[in-house]
Amino acid sequence: MEYVTLSNNVKVPVLGIGTFMISPEDTEESVYTALKGGYRMIDTANAYMNEEAAGRGLARAVKEGIVKREDVFVSTKIWPTLYEKENAVEDTLKRLGLDFVDLLFIHQPAGNFTAGYQLIERAYREGKARSLGISNMHDEKLEKLLAAAEVLPHVIQLETHPYCTEKEIMGRLASCGTKLMGWYPLGHGDPGLLKEEIFTKLADKYHKSGAQIVLRWHTQMGFMTIPGSKNPDHIRDNINIFDFLLIDEEMAEIAKLDGTRKYYTADNATEEKYATMHLPFEG
Ligand SMILES: NC(=O)c1ccc[n+]([C@@H]2O[C@H](COP(=O)([O-])OP(=O)(O)OC[C@H]3O[C@@H](n4cnc5c(N)ncnc54)[C@H](OP(=O)(O)O)[C@@H]3O)[C@@H](O)[C@H]2O)c1
Repeated sequence: MEYVTLSNNVKVPVLGIGTFMISPEDTEESVYTALKGGYRMIDTANAYMNEEAAGRGLARAVKEGIVKREDVFVSTKIWPTLYEKENAVEDTLKRLGLDFVDLLFIHQPAGNFTAGYQLIERAYREGKARSLGISNMHDEKLEKLLAAAEVLPHVIQLETHPYCTEKEIMGRLASCGTKLMGWYPLGHGDPGLLKEEIFTKLADKYHKSGAQIVLRWHTQMGFMTIPGSKNPDHIRDNINIFDFLLIDEEMAEIAKLDGTRKYYTADNATEEKYATMHLPFEG
């Protein structure tokens, strides 16, 4: 495994397992399978409705002696409807069955996100989160958050893949020391991305799949990456990327795809809807 070091010196495995749109049953299995296969990072969120299941997968691996809790990097995200709830972080930890998380995000730039950020800053000070993250923040909202932050965000999660590397936002965040963790690293499974001519060519050269070439590209770009999967073969293949290196010319060829496509864009009105989209467990 390779690692990224955050501005507060916390080390993050460069690759983890994502759990978006994965049912609780599949999440528990995926997390367990991933840990057994050498993964040391799990990404979940309040809104994925699978934090308990992710926690169960981790607890099983700990119980069986496959990993120690402290060797696994767990990240989760507070949903906007919970930004002003006093116990949102404690409830999140309860669902996960953990005393602390390694990275705590506010999930969306919606509602009272500065209050949400203060909530996670408090968790950081209390030792309930080892690092802090923002997600999907941009433009004026990003500036508002940075102006109000006492602890600058260590990580930002943004849609990131060879078609979209968010150079502008990352340029803005360079002086803050904020590192990029990319979501949709495989284009949410888009075969069009994985079968781009360049990836087919490199897959042949390195005896890897298109997905493995794309994931290797993420890590060589310095991005933390969290491919989602409930398929044990994919989970195994996605971590099997550390035995080859793309050369500079190949990285430059892949860079030509940058800026050509984004799978998800939310306008302000869509973003603000998240502030009223209550999660089932809120009652
Ligand atoms: N902060 C945010 O707002 C946000 C938004 C979206 C996602 N995320 C996080 O980012 C993670 C990654 O995003 P994602 O899971 O939506 O998309 P993704 O990782 O780009 O793609 C997942 C899809 O790719 C398929 N896949 C995985 N490995 C493969 C392989 N080796 N070959 C072919 N297909 C493969 C999976 O199917 P199988 O199950 O069949 O393998 C699944 O359909 C999420 O799980 C979540 O943790 C965060």
